[in-house]
Amino acid sequence: MSIDRKEFLIIAAGAVLAGCRAATEGGAPVPPQAERVVDAGPASTYAADGVYSGYRNLGFFVVRNGERLFALSSVCTHRRCRISPEFDRSYSCPCHGSEFDTEGRVTMGPATRDLPTLQTSISEAGRLMVRVPAS
Ligand code: FES
Repeated sequence: MSIDRKEFLIIAAGAVLAGCRAATEGGAPVPPQAERVVDAGPASTYAADGVYSGYRNLGFFVVRNGERLFALSSVCTHRRCRISPEFDRSYSCPCHGSEFDTEGRVTMGPATRDLPTLQTSISEAGRLMVRVPAS
């Protein structure tokens, strides 16, 4: 079987679009990054219980659970795809189906390691600072 130039271009364009879609939906591995500290805004922004996903693409979720405010990695421990929060505040990975509970503990593989909690601090100005480790 052979394909002509037009068929090749259609197939190639489809592959590129599929790759872009996977990347934007979190279905592609996150490239290695240097350690950094991210200013996640006023800590008062996170007063209500829930998962705040505004920093997902920078490597973490901000989670408020009662008195606890913490940052949880948004990078799957299996092969580094970006995970997504679910309505029940658990997390799932679009790449191979790993699932994590509300604290980031593995509930279904193939991942075997829990999502790490990232170091946080509150600045003098009341801003939440999140240290995202090198990866
Ligand atoms: S990268 Fe998440 S399950 Fe494989």
